[in-house]
Amino acid sequence: MHCDFVELVAPGVRRLQPYQPGKPDSEVKREYGLTEVIKLASNENPLGPSPKALAVLRDCFSELARYPDGNGFELKAALSAHLSVSPDGITLGNGSNDVLEIVARTFLTPDHASVFARHAFAVYPLVTQAIGAEARVAAANPPDHVMSYGHDLNALAEKIDAKTRLIFIANPNNPTGTWLNSAELEAFLERVPEHVIVTVDEAYTEYVDEPDYPDTIPWVERFPNLIVTRTFSKAYGLAGLRVGFAVSHPQVANLLNRVRQPFNVNIPAQMAAIAALGDDEHLQRSRQVNREGMILMKSALAEMGLRYLPSVGNFLCVDMGRPGLEIFEALLRRGVTVRPVANYGLPNFLRITIGTEWENRKLIETLREVL
Ligand SMILES: Cc1ncc(COP(=O)(O)O)c(C=O)c1O
Repeated sequence: MHCDFVELVAPGVRRLQPYQPGKPDSEVKREYGLTEVIKLASNENPLGPSPKALAVLRDCFSELARYPDGNGFELKAALSAHLSVSPDGITLGNGSNDVLEIVARTFLTPDHASVFARHAFAVYPLVTQAIGAEARVAAANPPDHVMSYGHDLNALAEKIDAKTRLIFIANPNNPTGTWLNSAELEAFLERVPEHVIVTVDEAYTEYVDEPDYPDTIPWVERFPNLIVTRTFSKAYGLAGLRVGFAVSHPQVANLLNRVRQPFNVNIPAQMAAIAALGDDEHLQRSRQVNREGMILMKSALAEMGLRYLPSVGNFLCVDMGRPGLEIFEALLRRGVTVRPVANYGLPNFLRITIGTEWENRKLIETLREVL
């Protein structure tokens, strides 16, 4: 007799929908018989890693029989100097997704709830439900708001009660690209009771040019319930290596580090992240390519009569005016991958990552053809 394993798992796990990653190029090529694919589906840095990171990676092979430094001493020292924070307040992760999961596992139980906005990053419900905790979704801004579909902080605050232990805020949010300014986020933190941990996910922070975008890391001293998460996967171009981190009050970091797997960041990842932090030139170039790509992409979309949501990341969430999946598939057949976001409650939208100028022009040309 076959055992129904679904019956055996925790109810939270039974209801989980797996995270849907962008298709790898190799799979798209195989499926569609293509020799070349342009991937604008996962918000990666189109320039790739810093040459300095690549250089240290070539040198790290001789170390690979050893375990990594489980405390990440050198990477924490580099981050500490870079961000002017104490290394005791840093928690390293296998990508920032790992950090988000560590936060959930540290603070949530089946008797607690996390709160996040509708259309917020998909990992928040995943890490919450895996624990059996309640995932509470707050309404987002309405479509006619200046920050359409963005986080509504009042709606988030209204969802807080005695059960709430954790709030996830993506700033800017993926897939919308919408953001919160310094004054509104600070006022929100002042309102939130101290027993509620506020995780501000800043995966795209290095791309943001807005003058009133919050500088949250210095706030960690004032708000001990604040955790800021960041990543090397986006502007630093190291998504494949998996390195992210949290900055928090040292007491919170101490708790997160109890839950963290001891060797969660591998040797190449630690070494490359340190080198990437030391290459400001590559970071600035990456920002510039994104800035120019945004301008080109926005004007081309506007010419095609397509509306996009306000974005300060390296991607645009575009209203196709019809099911995004149709356009996604038509683009895919022509060798361009973008991200449908129906699973985020945005069935008519596609999320398009800003690529190199050549990739952006190719996307624009292909989209024109398809439309
Ligand atoms: C808002 C947001 N947070 C976190 C992540 C996780 O990135 P990683 O685990 O690669 O650091 C992503 C990746 O797409 C993201 O968009």
